[in-house]
Parts: sequence; C-alpha cells; structure tokens
Amino acid sequence: MDKKTFYITTPIYYPSDKLHIGHSYTTVAADAMARFKRLKGYDVHFLTGTDEHGQKIERRAIEAGSEPQVFVDEVVAWIKKLWSILDISYDDFIRTSEPRHKLSVQKMFQKYYEQGDIYKSKYEGWYCTPCEAFWTERQLDAGSCPDCKRPVELLAEESYFFKMSRYAGRLMEYIDKNPDFIQPASRKNEMINNFLKPGLEDLCVSRTTFKWGIPVPFDEGHIIYVWLDALSNYITALGYASEDEEKLNRYWPADVQLIGKEIVRFHTIYWPIFLMALGLELPKKVFGHGWLLLDEGKMSKSKGNVIDPVVLVDRYGSDAIRYFLLREIPFGADGSFSEEALVLRLNFDLANDLGNLLNRTLAMLEKYFQGNVPQPGDEDKHDEELKQAALTLPARMEGLMDQLQFSGALAELWKFIGNANKYIDDTAPWALAKSGRQERLATVMYNLLECIRIVSVLLQPYMPRTPQKIWQQLGIAGIKETQSWESLSKFGVFPAGVKTSPGEVLFPRLELTGEGGAPVRQATKKDKPQLQSAPDGDKNEDTGLVSIEEFSRLDLRVARIITAERIEGADKLLKLKVDLGSEERQVVAGIAKHYLPEQLVEKRVLFVANLKPAKLRGILSEGMLLAASDSSGRLVLTTTEEAVAPGSKVR
Ligand code: MSP
Repeated sequence: MDKKTFYITTPIYYPSDKLHIGHSYTTVAADAMARFKRLKGYDVHFLTGTDEHGQKIERRAIEAGSEPQVFVDEVVAWIKKLWSILDISYDDFIRTSEPRHKLSVQKMFQKYYEQGDIYKSKYEGWYCTPCEAFWTERQLDAGSCPDCKRPVELLAEESYFFKMSRYAGRLMEYIDKNPDFIQPASRKNEMINNFLKPGLEDLCVSRTTFKWGIPVPFDEGHIIYVWLDALSNYITALGYASEDEEKLNRYWPADVQLIGKEIVRFHTIYWPIFLMALGLELPKKVFGHGWLLLDEGKMSKSKGNVIDPVVLVDRYGSDAIRYFLLREIPFGADGSFSEEALVLRLNFDLANDLGNLLNRTLAMLEKYFQGNVPQPGDEDKHDEELKQAALTLPARMEGLMDQLQFSGALAELWKFIGNANKYIDDTAPWALAKSGRQERLATVMYNLLECIRIVSVLLQPYMPRTPQKIWQQLGIAGIKETQSWESLSKFGVFPAGVKTSPGEVLFPRLELTGEGGAPVRQATKKDKPQLQSAPDGDKNEDTGLVSIEEFSRLDLRVARIITAERIEGADKLLKLKVDLGSEERQVVAGIAKHYLPEQLVEKRVLFVANLKPAKLRGILSEGMLLAASDSSGRLVLTTTEEAVAPGSKVR
C-alpha cells in the first residue's frame, strides 16, 4: 500500500538581508513537524525557498551596488548555509528566479487572463515596498502602512487587475465549512471581519515601474506582482503546468502551510482565490504563528535589534536553539527572546532534567552492573505506572503535534522525563544495592534505560543530533530497531546484555555569557524569562503568584552534609560538601554566625539543586541550603523529620 503523504511548507524568505532568529522560528517548527511525520512513516515533502523578485529586492541590490541576480545568489547561498547549520531537512528548496518557477507562473497568468479573471486598467493608490502591498487611502494608518507602519509611496501606473470579488463568496463558504483551514481561530476572525466582510477590491497584479520580476507573457512591459509570483511557489515547486506533474498529484493539497501572522492575509485570501481560479484544491491548514519579540518589539533589521542565529548556534549548539524555540513559546502566541531565558531553559530542562536522568542512570549502572545492561527481574507497583506513561506518550505527543502545539508536545515528553526521575527516587536503587536485592535492582536499572531510549526516539524531530549521542552512550547506536516509532509500541525493547559507554556530559550547566564570549546581546532587567501564555491567548498578568509549572522548575532535594569548614577572612560563610545521592557538591552558605561546622555534619537539609552556580569569595558554590529566619534574625536550617535518602526530591 502507498504511504500516506504529508506536504508542509514554510514561507519563502526574502533574500534581502541575512535572516535573524525570528525567521529561523518558522523553519525550525516546519522541520520538527516534517521529521515527526517521517518518524511516523509518512511520505513527507517539506518545501522552503526564497522569494527573490520585486521592487524591494531590486532596490537592495542597487544599494549594494550589485545586479539583482548576483545579489540574491549571495544571500541565498548564506540562507542555505544557515538551514544546514540548523539541521533543516527540507526536501526541496525553490528559488523564484529559477526557470521552473518562472515558466509555471507565466502559464498561470496566461490562464487567468484567458478565462477572464484578469483585465487591464490603471492603478492609482498607495504601495508599501517593505511589505510589497497595495493599500487604499482608507486603509492607511495615519498615512503609513497599516502592517509595518512605514511610509508608503503613491503609485499611478497602468496595471493588470485580478477580479477577487468573483471568488469572495466561495472563499467565505470554504472558510465556514472548514474550521481548521485558518488557524489559530483568532486570525480567521480577523480575516473575515477586516477583509472579507467589507468586500474584496480587485487586486493589482502587475507593475511597470521596475524590471526585476517575471514579465507578463503577453505584455512584456509588465512585471507580475511579486505576491502572485511568490505564493505560486507552493505549486510550481511540485511541477504545476510543467511536463511532469507527478509531485503535484502526489502532494497537493498541502497538509500544513506555516507562516508568520503578518502574512496571513496573503495566504488566506489571495492564495486560496488564485488556487480556486486554477481549479485546484485549497490547502488543508494555514497556520499563522506569533512573533519572536525583544524588549523593543518585533525583531527587524531596520530597528537594529536582530539576533544572529549563527552566533547562537555557535555558542549553544543547534539542538539547544531548536529546543528553546519550540519549547519556550506556545506556537501561535508571541513570545520573548532573551539569552537569559535561553540559558535558564537549557539549564533546567536539558542539563537538569534530561542530563541528570541520563547521567545518574549510567553512573548507577556502572557502579552496580559494571555498565552491562541486565535482564529485568522482579516487578513492583512503581513499574506499572511508569510503563503506562511510556506506552501512552507517543499518541499524546502526536495529538499535540497535529495541532502544531510543539511546546505542548515537548512538555509531555518532559513530564515523562520527570516520571523517570521520580522513579529513581521512589525505587531508591542505592538502597536496593545496599540490601542485596539484586534482581529488583536489575529491573529498576533496565526500566530506566528503556525510558531513556523512549525519550531519545521521541526527541529526534526536535533535537536531531542529541539522540545519536544518547544512543552512543546507551550502546545501541547501531541497533536501528530500537530507534523507530514502531519500537515505542512495546516496553522492553532495550536489548539486555549491551554494554553502555558513558561519555561527555551532553548538557553542561551554562553561564549567561557562554564560554569566554560576550553575550549575543546583553540581557536587561526587562528580559526576565517570560511566563507561558496560553496558545493564542493574552499574556499572563503578573499577579505575583507562581503556577505549579513554574514551581516545579525548582529542583529541590534533600542534601546530606558531609563536611563543613570555615573560610578564612569571611566570618559569615562556611564551605560545605554535600551528598546528593548520585553526586557530591560544594556550596558556600551564609550560616557561620548560626552554626558551628561540627554541628552540621550528617544533617539532612533541604537544598536547591538547580541554582545557577556562583563564586563567593572566589569559591565555587553549586546550590543553596534552605533555612528559616525569624524576626530576631535567627537562622534555622530546614532539616527533614526523618533520615530521607540524600538526593530525594522535595515537592
Ligand atoms: N517573502 C515573504 C513570504 C512569501 S511566502 C509566499 C516574507 N518573507 S520574510 O523573509 O520577510 O519572512 C519570512 C517569515 O519569517 C514570515 O513567516 C515571517 O512571519 C517570519 N518572521 C520574520 N520575523 C519574525 C519574527 N521576529 N518572529 C517570528 N517570525 C518572523 O514575508
């Protein structure tokens, strides 16, 4: 039987300047989706490309003292390099300056003309060159472009017009009958109320005052309007009106077209009408995601507030950047970018949750089984819960991915990582080892390895490099059947007898400035990590309350104090060594006025394990003891009522 197909597109990018991290957002999301569907076994076609024509590009080339074609060739080469750095696995890259595209667009234009959709007249009105958009006097916002707020130019030139009104009724009907067509729903309402209901005006689809574009086939002085040219890429890349329409037949209509919210109008009004006029089906879903913002608003070259993705990838690695983009902001909503939020996210989720699960498990396996994966033995109640969570995880993630909730899908995956970390605390392998319960210990270790394997398989779409590294350490890099979607339908696929090889720490804890380098952009106070806003909803108001999710980002543990000593020249500080179960840490605590060092040894205290490391009096401190202070200034350490195992989670 033929595989099910899945066609996904990104917008095609203007090669006018280097792309910033905001541009990478759409493409990383599309890539994660394409990889997810490939993992599921779909025949995926993932298209991206460049939108090379129009007045804006022509002007940029002139400013750069270059010919447009030479100018775009250089920028396009850079864009392709960026996609390769970010591991974007596109199946096709279309350039609108390619003959395959130009010929198809000319045939399309001819067809429209012949069937009476296009007529010649004169355009008198406003034009925004940065947006390449026509506006009427009434639509302007205080004399400027209502979308980008930049100045508009007055045009008066002979043009061809497309009779949009011919198709407006059919489009309304289609939108009504297909509630999933425009997503999120708020964008759909905006299109209906602001554009369709007031009535569509005929659209100017050719220009005569510049040359860089596709000529109208029957009237060479006219250049086809760049948005008609650009939107067509989604079908010209599939061979529309060429000798070979095999791909068009196989993949059209697109399953998902991802775009930023500012170009929803072009994709949900013009584009479907152009398709209807060709007698083609409409895309199944057009999703307008939100923007990546900085303090100053949307990132843009003209505001000089762009963040260079190449610098970020260089500093943190492409998997980490991809993870942040997909996890931090619910797709659909706007979200803030700051390097501080990035570092926090990486430290909490990658270094702490995932990194610790892997490191603790491999370290214990080394200690108790010399790194050899044992056959599972005795079962108990904790195992059933864990297995249930593992077996239901893929479907839960798939459901969220189908709604393009990348962040939600990753949150599910991390919930499961949390379950596995909790399983360590609940089963206390160190206690099993101490009491000689070897069979039970074997089961616990086996189950943990199986959980890490499951996590790594599901991580592939989002962080394509990390799973390979995990498999190396788990000893299953060459065993393909442990890495597939099918391998998730059973718990217990991990081959016993394999020897693991713990290696480099995959996610070291990070400092904001990175290794020796200056920050990409100095974080300011206003850059505080953003609270998550609901998809397509308003930002959370700062009520001073924390959600359970925010609270759970604190990694609170029980620490056993091993040693304590005074620090010369610091009368308030003590240097402590603490035991956290799977590791030892050094901390500097401001308790010297309240405790003698010898009083502290063997105390079990509550401990913040994921506090950013800091140096006090030149001594590294990795974590913090919790203490209560009353109004008299007395400080009392918060100890546990009973002797709980070091490293136990506090919740
Ligand atoms: N060339 C047109 C698209 C034509 S599609 C037929 C275009 N190009 S663009 O290079 O300006 O933008 C490409 C995509 O990047 C758009 O979807 C846009 O929304 C997205 N982004 C640009 N800046 C962005 C942010 N700061 N945040 C998120 N996405 C942003 O538009």
